Amino acid sequence: MTDLKERIAAQLTAVRDRSLAYTAAEDDLLVRQHSPLMSPLVWDLAHVGNYEELWVLRAAAGITPLRPEIDDIYDAFKTPRRDRPSLPFLGPAEARDYIGGVRGRVLDVLDAVDLADPSPLRRDGFVFGLVIQHEHQHDETMLATLQLAGRPGVVRDGDLPPGLSAGPEEVYVPAGEFLMGTDSLPWAYDNERPAHRVDLPAYWIDRLPVGNAAYAAFIEDGGYHDARWWTPEGWRWRQENGVFGPLFWTREGGTWWRTRFGRTEPVPMDEPVQHVCWYEADAYARWAGKRLPTEAEWEKACGWDAAAGRARPYPWGEQDPTPELANLGHRAARPAPLGAYPGGASPYGAEQMVGDVWEWTATWFDGYPGFRAFPYREYSEVFFGREYRVLRGGSWAADPAAVRTTFRNWDYPIRRQIFTGFRCARTASPEER
Ligand SMILES: [Fe+2]
Repeated sequence: MTDLKERIAAQLTAVRDRSLAYTAAEDDLLVRQHSPLMSPLVWDLAHVGNYEELWVLRAAAGITPLRPEIDDIYDAFKTPRRDRPSLPFLGPAEARDYIGGVRGRVLDVLDAVDLADPSPLRRDGFVFGLVIQHEHQHDETMLATLQLAGRPGVVRDGDLPPGLSAGPEEVYVPAGEFLMGTDSLPWAYDNERPAHRVDLPAYWIDRLPVGNAAYAAFIEDGGYHDARWWTPEGWRWRQENGVFGPLFWTREGGTWWRTRFGRTEPVPMDEPVQHVCWYEADAYARWAGKRLPTEAEWEKACGWDAAAGRARPYPWGEQDPTPELANLGHRAARPAPLGAYPGGASPYGAEQMVGDVWEWTATWFDGYPGFRAFPYREYSEVFFGREYRVLRGGSWAADPAAVRTTFRNWDYPIRRQIFTGFRCARTASPEER
């Protein structure tokens, strides 16, 4: 086997081990719907196998469908999440059998395939990258479900580096063009392409994500009761839902508490805030006298190396993420303290851009100039428009295989169960330029 094939095989195994670990629980936990926002866990499990069958076995290798009768059940477009509990989905044992059977054939295809083949699905192992990233994204979704289920004991919680770095509150990004998106990263999705020049005026962006202490100050300053800070839609959302702080937070005895995977603990004030929706992030930014960064501002601050005239795949450079550089890949079930990764700083000095928490941006999800859907319209294109806001950078629950400077995620502005925080930005004043 070539190096690339070995790497693909190792990644397929690693992601499957994780999917199986998050579904190694009693059947009742797996088949129940814990929130109308989420699928039953066992649906996610068989869905990743079905996706792998559709794309690797059928589309790339031309293999006859194994179980065509279940395709509709696992088509995310045919059934919204809230309706999934009523589907005749496979039970836990059957789901594990099915995805194991698919996986065996996928490894045979990998063994036989020519990765230099010019077919865009096979070239550089694109179709394998597609299913690996897809399964990682579902593992993160499963973690959000487990968090909502509040069941302790399924998700492990490891050690993280302490918050050490000192530095300015904001870093400066001078005016100028940068190259946004990519033409060259082989496993990049259609929505990250093509690379294109974007010219931005000078701006400041927070060196670190907004922390729990700063967010608690916003709450204690009456931020949730002051319409000035909110957009009209955000204010309506706040009023209708009676929201007073991040999801999973409570206030008792003068202390903020949070519930994390079924355990309640004091909110650690030195961690990035998570489980806030776009409306909350946007309101906080206005209260702080700033705004959310646009998606382009976020990407330039994360990866643009002005001296070299090129974009880095990660803030620190080309090197794959390690535990010293970023909090990715479920090493612990929480974000790391602010300032834990000075070595992961971007060329402009922004830290923790990758890992810890997804970051809301001000930008609606849309195609870049020259966008072409590949391999199917339903991956990104059908979500373009003014319905979803872009999230960047990946969380502690995201895997390095599905995170990079150019990676784009998107969600509704009301979503809070995802592992999401934000940082603020502001346009540089004329005196600062
Ligand atoms: Fe999916």
